[in-house]
Amino acid sequence: MEQSTEQTTEILLCLSPVEVANLKEGINFFRNKSTGKDYILYKSKSRLRACKNVCKHQGGLFIKDIEDLAGRSVRCTKHNWKLDVSTMKYINPPESFCQDELVVEMDENNGLLLLELNPPNPWDSEPRSPEELDFGEVQITYLTHACMDLKLGDKRMVFDPWLIGPAFARGWWLLHEPPSDWLERLCQADLIYISHLHSDHLSYPTLKKLAGRRPDIPIYVGNTERPVFWNLNQSGVQLTNINVVPFGIWQQVDKNLRFMILMDGVHPEMDTCIIVEYKGHKILNTVDCTRPNGGRLPTKVALMMSDFAGGASGFPMTFSGGKFTEEWKAQFIKTERKKLLNYKAQLVKNLQPRIYCPFAGYFVESHPSDKYIKETNTKNDPNELNNLIKKNSDVITWTPRPGATLDLGRMLKDPTDSKGIIEPPEGTKIYKDSWDFEPYLEILNAAVGDEIFLHSSWIKEYFTWAGFKDYNLVVRMIETDEDFNPFPGGYDYLVDFLDLSFPKERPQREHPYEEIRSRVDVIRHVVKNGLLWDELYIGFQTRLQRDPDIYHHLNAKPHENFKNSLMNEKQHKNLSLHLEYRKLTAKRLCFMTSAMDKFYVAFVICVYSLHL
Ligand code: FES
Repeated sequence: MEQSTEQTTEILLCLSPVEVANLKEGINFFRNKSTGKDYILYKSKSRLRACKNVCKHQGGLFIKDIEDLAGRSVRCTKHNWKLDVSTMKYINPPESFCQDELVVEMDENNGLLLLELNPPNPWDSEPRSPEELDFGEVQITYLTHACMDLKLGDKRMVFDPWLIGPAFARGWWLLHEPPSDWLERLCQADLIYISHLHSDHLSYPTLKKLAGRRPDIPIYVGNTERPVFWNLNQSGVQLTNINVVPFGIWQQVDKNLRFMILMDGVHPEMDTCIIVEYKGHKILNTVDCTRPNGGRLPTKVALMMSDFAGGASGFPMTFSGGKFTEEWKAQFIKTERKKLLNYKAQLVKNLQPRIYCPFAGYFVESHPSDKYIKETNTKNDPNELNNLIKKNSDVITWTPRPGATLDLGRMLKDPTDSKGIIEPPEGTKIYKDSWDFEPYLEILNAAVGDEIFLHSSWIKEYFTWAGFKDYNLVVRMIETDEDFNPFPGGYDYLVDFLDLSFPKERPQREHPYEEIRSRVDVIRHVVKNGLLWDELYIGFQTRLQRDPDIYHHLNAKPHENFKNSLMNEKQHKNLSLHLEYRKLTAKRLCFMTSAMDKFYVAFVICVYSLHL
């Protein structure tokens, strides 16, 4: 991609007058033969609309949607998202995203031009030419999962420190044994970047250790709609130097070092990625972003790192009934992992970094009660991805082992330099073989006997606080033991979200129905602390059945949630419940996402069939 500090216009496709005359009403597919890129043009009586034939989810190709008799929508061949091309809005997931439109212009010969208006790339502002790096000047050390320790001249920066404890309640545990000096390394950091609020990136057990030594450590996060540190006070971790920075603007650290945080195109409300630049050399970390910065990224960076593994979702392994047989799930996982691998390989091929490192997928479901998930929720092998990348490009790849250090100056100068990557000393333990489960499970267990659960009135209180209603969905919630059998004395109740009632029996009307079994310790911990249901769902702490088998992506007005969360405080007092909900945090039960200028709330119980 060319460096540009001004908006540019690019002609993506030219249609001849004959092609224009032959345009049919409705959907027309085109390919630019010289670039191999695909486009969709929608013709109605009043106007022409056009877009790239690229799905917003993971770049899949759209084809005609044969189920749509009106001839207005197209279907993605990868995971079946659907786009109504007459409005340029996605209809599956419903009310979710808009497709970016191209400008359609008639030329002087009655041909058509499809134009893309490209705003300047923010990282191209005040461009810097790469300077030669001394050996040892820039060193990147892998610690665990998504955590990298970067030495950049005389500054140190750490990404996403998750070094101890579980993530997602008790579902995820570290695969790799972090280097023994990890806390020293964190304490020496000049800045820490935390990409988003998920607990494999925002790890309070880790931050608690760090805050004990350096409460003033400078932490940087993007200005996401769902703040990364939304429950800092509740966490009890004392951090006094959290900096929320705007997207797409260089943050100058010193004369050689700057960084820029960018948002994700699919989850802009919460996911971010980062470009770090030292002496003109860029390091791009796309973390967990599904479509980092909407697909616009710097090319030819010195080092790129991204997720690769998959498996970071309760879908489909926590589902049963209907099509969800073991064979179906196994086949689905196999196919989806392959798609993800190809998607990542294609991204790397397009961006042509000098060096690529797959990371942020090194977790394991190691608690014995999650044996089934551990055995079936297979993840991609980083070496397989790296081999795929090497087959299609001359990008150098790095499969990191904890404590391994990449010397950027050496690697850029000579990728065959044997000192370019220093592996951990012989005999270093790479994989964890034991985990300290007890203290973390005790915290969860403590919620089981909490007095707020003595009276069933908490159910109404809780769901009223969540503020999600006016939607035709009935959910049966069942508290269970470790093996998802009903917990003796546990709650088993229905919630009708149409009018937010709690009937004894399913209503007579037609309604989508979902049954959610949740481990009692985790659901009560989540309820008591007003946490996101991600803990349950992504952490594999639920088992789900639904009829019909559809994905609900729901919207609600944000002020409704704010109102409800405020109302809830009053109700707390009235009911003398000891729930310490914070104000204005309805986001804890709901996903609040923004797409374009609209707000969306997806209720997590309606869990993803498309979020893979
Ligand atoms: S890439 Fe289109 S639905 Fe996933």
